[in-house]
Amino acid sequence: METYLKIENVSKQYGQFTALKDISLDIHKGEFICFLGPSGCGKTTLLRAIAGLDLASSGKITQNGIDTTFLAPEKRDFGIVFQSYALFPNLTVAENISLGLRNQGKSLKEVDDIVIKWLDIIGLPDSGIKYPNQLSGGQQQRIALARALSLSPGLLLLDEPLSALDAKVRSHLRDEIRRLQRTLGITTIMVTHDQDEALAMADRIVVMNHGCIEQVGTPQEIYQRPASRFVADFVGNMNFIPASVVSDSHIRIGETLLPKPDKALLRGDYFELGLRPEDLHFSETAQPNNSSFPVQIEALEFQGTFVRAECRLQGEHKADTIKVDVPIRELRRLALERGHFHHVNIAKQHTHIFQAEH
Ligand SMILES: Nc1ncnc2c1ncn2[C@@H]1O[C@H](COP(=O)(O)OP(=O)(O)OP(=O)(O)O)[C@@H](O)[C@H]1O
Ligand SMILES: [Mg+2]
Repeated sequence: METYLKIENVSKQYGQFTALKDISLDIHKGEFICFLGPSGCGKTTLLRAIAGLDLASSGKITQNGIDTTFLAPEKRDFGIVFQSYALFPNLTVAENISLGLRNQGKSLKEVDDIVIKWLDIIGLPDSGIKYPNQLSGGQQQRIALARALSLSPGLLLLDEPLSALDAKVRSHLRDEIRRLQRTLGITTIMVTHDQDEALAMADRIVVMNHGCIEQVGTPQEIYQRPASRFVADFVGNMNFIPASVVSDSHIRIGETLLPKPDKALLRGDYFELGLRPEDLHFSETAQPNNSSFPVQIEALEFQGTFVRAECRLQGEHKADTIKVDVPIRELRRLALERGHFHHVNIAKQHTHIFQAEH
């Protein structure tokens, strides 16, 4: 695959504070990339370095074969949409979109045609004469998107463009952005701290934490094979169960011995077993191959399509409760009740192991 944007060893200092530490990343042409991570992890800083709005302190950024590291933003080839709509309130929608096109030296007729085309594409054909405050948040964000895309940039940068919108509008616009991006084939980077958004939209997700990249991968890779405890915790739900290796063949969690899930674990190791709530299943009795442990149900929480059972591991009173998600259609068969004891089955292929860093 052709690399469109290459980020090499980029760091960013704000005085003593390091906002980005040695970031390297290749983004392919036409890819939809999400920068995902908690507040303050450096997502916006990296996006602004790519746009030239804040220059990197060191490292190199190459876009479409051109070294852009220290290029002024107006000399770069990108369109950007921010969380707040950032439309000029005193200009009509059509004027907002026209501005950049006029600066590109296009004729009035050309500009008008492009504006009409884009208002049509985003489904707001009659709003050209309106002012931003006459539009809803979702509509303003569509205008901002049209404004960015009407300039036919090589790269689309989106900084939490959906986070100010309510859930319904957000999921609608999510689909629309993705459809548009695919049709145009435009290389896109979207910053978000919403894991669902990243999982649903991205070709690849870049998970960030404390100015570093923790993992880069497809949504499935990130979800199914989290590279670190941080990623496992941040993306999706994960139970972390304290465990120790008691022999060459067995580990102990709570008061239960289980077969050792990974050869690399050594006798005497302490680690955490990571298990996603949807990968756990209840049974009435212990499994013959010992891949189950007993728990007591403390609470049942209705979640719509499933019930989340909060369970207490026996003999382990300090640990957090363990969450088990039970699909509604399975619930009838199980007759779960608060206070009851059940066995939780674990499947080896769904087991994650997180060893304390030495
Ligand atoms: N101009 C600045 N001067 C000093 N520190 C800054 C500046 N801009 C950002 N920072 C710091 O750099 C870190 C990363 O900020 P950044 O805005 O990139 O985070 P973010 O991942 O986008 O977070 P959020 O999800 O809250 O938008 C933060 O700790 C922030 O306080
Ligand atoms: Mg940010």
